[in-house]
Amino acid sequence: MSVSLVILAAGQGTRMNSDLPKVLHTLAASPLLHHAMQAGRALDPQQTVVVAGHGAEAVTKAALAYDEDAVVVLQHEQLGTAHAVAQAAAVLSDMAGDIVILYGDTPLIRPETLEALREARARHAVVVLGFHAADPGRYGRLITDGDELHRIVEFKDATPEERAITLCNSGLICAEGKLLFDLVAQVGNDNAAGEYYLPDIIGLARGRGLSAGVVLCDEAETMGVNTRAELARAESAFQARARAEALENGVTLTAPETVFFALDTVVGRDALIGPNVIFGPGVTVESGAEIRAFCHLEGCHISRGATVGPFSRLRPGAELAEDVHVGNFVEIKNAILDEGVKVGHLTYIGDANVGEFTNIGAGTVTCNYDGVMKHRTTIGKNAFIGSDTMLVAPVSVGDNAMTASGSVITQDVPAEALALARAHQTNKPGLAARLRARLVQIKASRT
Ligand code: UD1
Ligand code: CA
Repeated sequence: MSVSLVILAAGQGTRMNSDLPKVLHTLAASPLLHHAMQAGRALDPQQTVVVAGHGAEAVTKAALAYDEDAVVVLQHEQLGTAHAVAQAAAVLSDMAGDIVILYGDTPLIRPETLEALREARARHAVVVLGFHAADPGRYGRLITDGDELHRIVEFKDATPEERAITLCNSGLICAEGKLLFDLVAQVGNDNAAGEYYLPDIIGLARGRGLSAGVVLCDEAETMGVNTRAELARAESAFQARARAEALENGVTLTAPETVFFALDTVVGRDALIGPNVIFGPGVTVESGAEIRAFCHLEGCHISRGATVGPFSRLRPGAELAEDVHVGNFVEIKNAILDEGVKVGHLTYIGDANVGEFTNIGAGTVTCNYDGVMKHRTTIGKNAFIGSDTMLVAPVSVGDNAMTASGSVITQDVPAEALALARAHQTNKPGLAARLRARLVQIKASRT
């Protein structure tokens, strides 16, 4: 049976104390919303609906950036979780199959847990994801009898006996779509908060003689982000999980606790990641590549056999082919480095193509920006760029060409040519000694 997702993301997140809508705060270099969407993607949803309210414009943009087929519906007033789900009815009411409800601020749900939730639908009309809370706080409590879920009571409305229950509602629910919207339409707001509670659909379903069940997951997965402190805790939980997965997948991490992954980082088997490496979004590292200590990587691809760092920065559009070497204090942006290119030290390569086996000397800069526009530098294969070459783009250097150290290259260099673009040197015999003596004399006359 097909499944669609409804992701609730209309709340303001007052306790974040922020101008940014809560679901757009960043975890592992991606908005919280993308984490929920990524978890849901494992169910191969037919349709994903995001319910937006606070900061709807920005939330819509983020939702579509992750999945251009997602549909965003607006909840103008936040009248409760059942009211939020009802906003998706118009989009999904003709869709056959199940609906899984996720929260945009609950980023650590594992795909396996969502699959278990769906499987349990074979036994129950409505399935709720629950967890045993160490400190149940203000979570909704699950009132169960063995396998059966009777109802959910919100903390605010619970009796002292009910508050003593530690089995809690994560908020995630799976039900058949038509039934879900039917039940949601019946929910009232006669409760302590005056809100339309989604959990009330359990009692309503039971009243129709339908069965409701609970699937349990680890408390760590259901962690919702409501404050900056919780965001920091979620980051640390995400990183712990990502590091463990990398090690499991055959990646060597010299100091795992110092490596920070992004939601979409891909690292191949037998890659080696040194200490203090930070992954921004959009990085792929192929098998056997080596990232040495203190590198900052985003939006780049590092091929098999390449070595990067220590202390390198790869920015969006950096493409390193096989066996490329990028060394210390080198920044690469929007540049394609073909096989075997070496950029060892203290260099900026931006908006460039570098042909195979070319060597770039220390202190080279592609001067790509004139203050208004960006320009490209093209370097052929087997070229040798002398140390401290300024390549004033747009400019090209041909195959097997060389530039002399300290050159400012403003014109294209033909293949095989040596470009020399620096002042001539003149030596003045004895002048250094005479100058030094004079300076010593001046200093003495002043004291
Ligand atoms: C909810 C559950 C509670 C559960 C807890 C788990 C209800 C009534 N209670 O409580 O049983 O233990 O989650 O974290 O559902 N939202 C909207 N529109 C609204 C209201 C909420 O989109 O009108 C969104 C929020 O942005 C958030 C999610 O729904 O992503 C949950 O809302 P929140 O107000 O945080 O619910 P809780 O009070 O935490
Ligand atoms: Ca909450």
